[in-house]
Amino acid sequence: MKQRVLVTAGASGIGREIVRAFADNGATVFVCDIDEEGLGRLAQEIPGLVTTVCDMADRQDIGRMVARSVEAMGGLDVLVNNAGIAGPTVPVEAIDPDDWDKVVSVNLTGTFDVTRLAIPHLKKSPAGVIIVMSSAAGRFGYPNRASYAATKWGLIGFTKTLAMELGEHGIRANAILPGTVEGPRIQRVFEGRAQATGRPVEEIKQVSMANQSLKALVDPRDIAALAVFLASDSAKTISGQALPIDGDIQRLS
Ligand SMILES: NC(=O)c1ccc[n+]([C@@H]2O[C@H](COP(=O)([O-])OP(=O)(O)OC[C@H]3O[C@@H](n4cnc5c(N)ncnc54)[C@H](O)[C@@H]3O)[C@@H](O)[C@H]2O)c1
Repeated sequence: MKQRVLVTAGASGIGREIVRAFADNGATVFVCDIDEEGLGRLAQEIPGLVTTVCDMADRQDIGRMVARSVEAMGGLDVLVNNAGIAGPTVPVEAIDPDDWDKVVSVNLTGTFDVTRLAIPHLKKSPAGVIIVMSSAAGRFGYPNRASYAATKWGLIGFTKTLAMELGEHGIRANAILPGTVEGPRIQRVFEGRAQATGRPVEEIKQVSMANQSLKALVDPRDIAALAVFLASDSAKTISGQALPIDGDIQRLS
């Protein structure tokens, strides 16, 4: 079966690797993002890739995007809810409520909106799959990142509930919890933490590795390979799981 896959926020970072991996695996892929230029570059790289601009904080945009994806691919088998923003790096009492709302609207409500609209189409698939991108911040407390951690824990509850509601329709739902991933985003996170604590960036990096058994950043291509596996027939009895891919992180600090 040639899978029809929708990936949110896939113009760069982990999402882009997921798009590439599914396309390499022979799937038809539809990708949305807020970054039009990034989508254009990816469309040039991957023949047959369909793209659309969508703000994951905008419910109407999401409605149009999901409808367009189903129309373009003639249905939907795999939804990869990858979109997620980092939010502020400050203690709870210093969080600007507008920043809190933005993180909740993209990470949690955006994922709900896409999934809600995708479910009727996934029910028509012979093997519907939902993948949700949580984080190690979805299994630990995360000082100075409360809005991010709260949404990533929320996504676990959402995923486990989806798995229970949709199992009878043959739809599986699982969450991936990446740790510290190689790329420009983590550099920004390290810099934000350095600013919040007044410590040098290099020290922040070392401290972050000290809390994990394997002293290595996660390769985003490995996360993409995990997503492809979770969507494959070999994972046909895996549902409702929260799968860390993080070098065995023991705590976030
Ligand atoms: N990078 C990490 O270390 C890491 C670790 C754990 C979990 N994650 C999660 O993985 C997912 C992808 O992370 P990443 O590091 O690749 O992200 P990223 O910061 O590289 O951004 C990925 C894409 O999101 C798009 N985007 C941003 N705001 C958007 C919006 N409102 N609407 C639509 N698109 C938008 C950007 O244009 C970009 O192309 C997120 O859910 C993130 O929370 C990342």
